[in-house]
Amino acid sequence: MQTPVPKNAEDEARALAAVQTHHAGMLKRLDALVTALTHAVRADDAAAEHDAHEVLVEWCETELVPHALAEEGPLYGGAGDAPEGRLLVAGMLAEHQVIVGLVERLRAAQGVDAAVAAGAIGEVFTLHLDKENRLLMPFIVASPGLSLAESVAGLHELVGEAHLHAIQHSAEPPARPVDG
Ligand SMILES: [Fe+2]
Ligand SMILES: [Fe+2]
Repeated sequence: MQTPVPKNAEDEARALAAVQTHHAGMLKRLDALVTALTHAVRADDAAAEHDAHEVLVEWCETELVPHALAEEGPLYGGAGDAPEGRLLVAGMLAEHQVIVGLVERLRAAQGVDAAVAAGAIGEVFTLHLDKENRLLMPFIVASPGLSLAESVAGLHELVGEAHLHAIQHSAEPPARPVDG
């Protein structure tokens, strides 16, 4: 049985919303980059394809893969140690491996092969985020032995810079009223 951890429902809800918002932003950006590459390939526009490919690969290397690696720390670690979360986390770690493999494929690909790899990254990531949003994080919030707010604390890769700031401030004790 898990040892209950002290946690606050408002902090948990705020952390859940922050990661979901960050996920939605990532998905929007990924969609736009995949669409740009696909259109360039379809139009047989080599210069546009080169640029779109470069931007997408760079985004995957600086946003997507670091996001997945950051999750594999406290977020997946805590849930993966819980008997009810073990199988879900194992499946989600396997999806990270698939995403990393697709990014490798994209990096080396050109033309239709690049568009296919980019489309696959978009589809797999969409499915994966949905599991994080609807299965993994609600499981953490509902588990007495786990805290989502604690799991994402300090990880801008998971909540984005703006939300990180908001979460850190909400965790600080309320300011004492000034005398007089
Ligand atoms: Fe993930
Ligand atoms: Fe994620």
